[in-house]
This record gives sequence, C-alpha cells and structure tokens, in this order.
Amino acid sequence: MESRTIEQFQGKTILITGATGFLAKILVEKILRVQPNVKKLYLLIRASNNNSARQRFTNEVVMSGLFNVTREKMGTIYLSSLVEDKVLPISGDISKKNMGIKNSQLREHMFKEIDIIINSAATTNFDERYDIAMNINVIGAKNVLKFAKSCKKVKTLLHVSTAYVCGKTTGILSEKSFVMGETLNKNSYLDMDKERSIIASKFKELRAQNATPKELTIAMKELGLQRASLHGWQNTYAFTKAMGEVVLGHLKENLQIVIIRPTVITSTYKEPFPGWIEGVKTVDSFILAYGKGVLNFYYGDPNSKFDAIPGDMVVNTILAAVLAHENQYSEEVVIYHSSSSLNNPLKLSDLMLYTFHYFTKNPWGNKDGKTIK
Ligand SMILES: NC(=O)c1ccc[n+]([C@@H]2O[C@H](COP(=O)([O-])OP(=O)(O)OC[C@H]3O[C@@H](n4cnc5c(N)ncnc54)[C@H](OP(=O)(O)O)[C@@H]3O)[C@@H](O)[C@H]2O)c1
Repeated sequence: MESRTIEQFQGKTILITGATGFLAKILVEKILRVQPNVKKLYLLIRASNNNSARQRFTNEVVMSGLFNVTREKMGTIYLSSLVEDKVLPISGDISKKNMGIKNSQLREHMFKEIDIIINSAATTNFDERYDIAMNINVIGAKNVLKFAKSCKKVKTLLHVSTAYVCGKTTGILSEKSFVMGETLNKNSYLDMDKERSIIASKFKELRAQNATPKELTIAMKELGLQRASLHGWQNTYAFTKAMGEVVLGHLKENLQIVIIRPTVITSTYKEPFPGWIEGVKTVDSFILAYGKGVLNFYYGDPNSKFDAIPGDMVVNTILAAVLAHENQYSEEVVIYHSSSSLNNPLKLSDLMLYTFHYFTKNPWGNKDGKTIK
C-alpha cells in the first residue's frame, strides 16, 4: 500500500473491533508501524473492565511476534510509549447494547471523537451455536452500526465479512449485496425475526426438557446447521455473516457501508514480515497435520483452485477501501472481494507440491526426536 495513502490516516481516530483476533491484529500493527501519527485507536475488547482490556491487548497483541519488527527497529521503549499514547483498549462486547460500553461519558466522548469504524469482530467457528452466532454476527453487526450512526464524524463503517456468504455458487461471483429476504436457496425467504423466534422456542423446549449445558450446545449447533442448510448456506458461520450483511444494508440510512469479503486468510505475504500466522484454523490445519505425518493423503481434484489471501493484503484492502470511500457517499452497500484465484490461481496440486517440498527440506521431529518423513 502506498505510503501516500496511509498518510491520510494522520490525525484520525479509529475504532477497531476484534483486535485480539488474527486479522485485526495485523491491521493494528500496520497502522501503528506505518502511521504512528494517527490520533487515537480505540480497540473494543471483551474483558471485565478497561484495565483487563489493556492487559489482554498487551499480552495477546503487543507481545506477539507480529510486533517484533517495530520492537527491533524502534526499540521496546518506543513501542510501549506509542501504545500508551495512541491505543485505548475499551472493554466491550458487540453483541450487547451500546457495544457493552457502560460508561456513558466515555461513550459520549467516543461519539464526538471517532472518524472511522472498522468492524472485524465475529465468531468464526463454522458450526457455532446458532444463538451465539446470531448474537455476534447479526445483532453484533447491528449494534456496531447503531454506534456508528451516533458518531458525529463517522461517514463510513467498514465491515469485514467473508467471501463464503456466496455459498457454493460457482463461476465469477459479483460484488453484489444481498437484499432483505434473499437466500441462496431460491425457494426460501429469510425472515430474521422468525429465525430469532425459532432460537427462542428451541431454548424454551430445551429448558422444559431440563437439558444439560452439553445437550443445549449440541442442540443449538445442530439448529444453526439446519437453518443454514435450509436457506442454502454451508454452515452457521457463513449463514450468520450473510445475515449481518443484510442487516447493515437494510438499516444503513445515510451511513456509507463498505464490506470486505476475504476468502481464506493465510499468513502474511510481506508485512511486517513474510509468514506470520496465528492459530490453526483453515488450510494451516491440513499443512500442520501433513507436517506431523498424520495426514498422508487427501481426496480432491488436483486442478481445482484453492482461494487464499495473505492477511497483510486483506489489511491493505481494508485501509485502501476506507480511504477511497471516506468522502464518496454511495446509496448502495459497497462490496469488495479480497481473493486471489482469478489473477493468481493456486491449484490444489500446487499446494500439495509446495507442502511436500517444504517438509522435505525442513522436516519436523516427533516426540522421540525422530524425523517425520
Ligand atoms: N480468518 C479467515 O480466514 C477469514 C476469512 C474470511 C473472513 N474473515 C472475517 O474476518 C474477520 C476477522 O477474522 P479473524 O480470523 O481475525 O477471527 P478471529 O481470530 O476468530 O478473531 C475474532 C475477533 O472477534 C472478537 N469477538 C468475537 N465476538 C465478539 C464480541 N461479541 N464482541 C467483541 N469482540 C468479539 C474476538 O475476541 P475474543 O478474543 O474475545 O474472542 C476476536 O478478537 C471476521 O469478521 C471474519 O468473519 C476471516
């Protein structure tokens, strides 16, 4: 991303949700490294109070290897004072009213000060309990929107969604928003109030049966998958992310909504250094299992394309989109897919070869210190 572009963030106050997550960590690091003259970063973090939110930010974000480049180049003291000066971790929860920010004075201050909001918070479990996924990915998106509307200076809300809201549709997918009621299964109509009442009825039924917490979890997970499948989505995650998009489009009024839909986000390509990744979530779980010698084969069409996009490229897309649309109001929800397979396709057979070559050169050892072939 051109430094000329990032300069436009100078003096801006940005609210970011999901900063303890994989993607928004890369976003926060990039802003602090490339534009330390940002006015302030409010980070909404799940914690019991603001001190615990700061503690989480320090332990899980600043102390992570992602900040090594800044730490090594500028020194630990510089990084600590930059964080102290610019970053304000706030305890909150997007699934709650006012995003769980209880202090009304702080809220009022945020309403006056914030210029840009980036919502990256989500539950990313594919088979999440339906009630939880609904509360975070749908009601949560609505709560962030409501908060954004109260912010005097905010013109754009950037929301991170997923390319998988498009389901199993094949071919080139247009960057088109959903309309209210639309589903991927053309025979059904999506009524979100009905979905919420189905969740409430299920709870009632389970309580009447004295269901154990484990039974409740299983039943709610099953319900999510059932409802997703009924309306044509492959899992509860993609289904609720799609509903989140619908809610934003429906209730946006005069706010500009920009939605970024990444495919599978993988390790960084260049920034702050190549190969940073955290957690084991998507394709990395296959690579890990292969490296450990647990996964020896995998069924698939070697010619099919696997769409992956490095985390730093998604972050650049987010920043560029915020700036491009800051002063350009559009009635329509603006959607950008952040993906690779059209211009830089990665075939499954390539993925297999790269993984094979990597582990042949850099084999892992097992518990007894023996090389895994
Ligand atoms: N990773 C991918 O491959 C991928 C691909 C496409 C799209 N996306 C989208 O990109 C965004 C970021 O994904 P990610 O990979 O960074 O996910 P992640 O690592 O699972 O992080 C999710 C973040 O959201 C926060 N969060 C969850 N529920 C919340 C709530 N109720 N209130 C406030 N914060 C909450 C989590 O906080 P805690 O730390 O407290 O749990 C965490 O910081 C998501 O919107 C996701 O749908 C991801």
